[in-house]
Amino acid sequence: PLVGTGELVTAARAAGRGVAAFNVVTLEHAEAIAAGAETAGASAILQISENAVRFHGGRLAPVAAAAAAVARASDAPLALHLDHVESFELLRQAPAAGFGSVMFDASKLPYARNVEATARAVRFGHGHGMWVEAELGRVGGKPGDPDRTALDAHAPGARTDPAEAAEYTAATGVDALAVAVGSSHAMTERTAVLDHDLIGELRRTVPVPLVLHGSSGVPDEELRRAVAAGMTKINVGTALNASFTGAVRAFLERDAAVVDPRKYLRPAREAMAETVAAFLKTVSS
Ligand code: G3H
Ligand code: ZN
Repeated sequence: PLVGTGELVTAARAAGRGVAAFNVVTLEHAEAIAAGAETAGASAILQISENAVRFHGGRLAPVAAAAAAVARASDAPLALHLDHVESFELLRQAPAAGFGSVMFDASKLPYARNVEATARAVRFGHGHGMWVEAELGRVGGKPGDPDRTALDAHAPGARTDPAEAAEYTAATGVDALAVAVGSSHAMTERTAVLDHDLIGELRRTVPVPLVLHGSSGVPDEELRRAVAAGMTKINVGTALNASFTGAVRAFLERDAAVVDPRKYLRPAREAMAETVAAFLKTVSS
């Protein structure tokens, strides 16, 4: 069934567990996430990023409708979330497209302007019954980021300050906060080392649930420790694409004459579902 992100995050936090949020790019992603959640007997969040919307010609409705339909048809509780939204124009389309939650990303802006833009996004979101996540302290590495190499997982600059995070949460009214604690987007090796003391400090200082972005690069044991220390929403994207593309590549290497895409999309979707189930076992138990 289709459920709310807010209710999944609240329940996970109350139980001291995590809830994983997986990026949806194509229909096969949504199907693989649903299948992986059913296998793991866990709930999950399907998230569509502004970049993914751009990939679909800037049209939010078709991809959102497909993901929501997959969630409704699933035996697992699945929520639908709009991720890394920088444009107010896209934000305004979210309620009608069926989103119960959104991450508004003003993290590229200096502090005061981040607060101002995010507070505005929260007013809009709450006015339309949406749960709103925002980010303070950059988790670098997104495509197009100018400082892709400068702000890597271990860069001292990529950290959220606990006192500033508490102030930011109060000033913006956000429902959850994405923090920079050592992870970085788009890592294809699981080598990130998290700052567990900082996670504990943020958990004590910030009243709302914490979100870890760039979790593909974080080893299982680091993820378990992060959840135990108070990290609740765990965002995973790249690891799904690595499984998917790896399976497509393996198939095409074996069969260079294949024409029907279902022949290679089926094993790719299955590989992605296995990755989803593995992350869910780590994060939500
Ligand atoms: O918002 C999405 C996530 O932060 C995904 O990051 O692709 O590095 O796992 P990732
Ligand atoms: Zn992210």
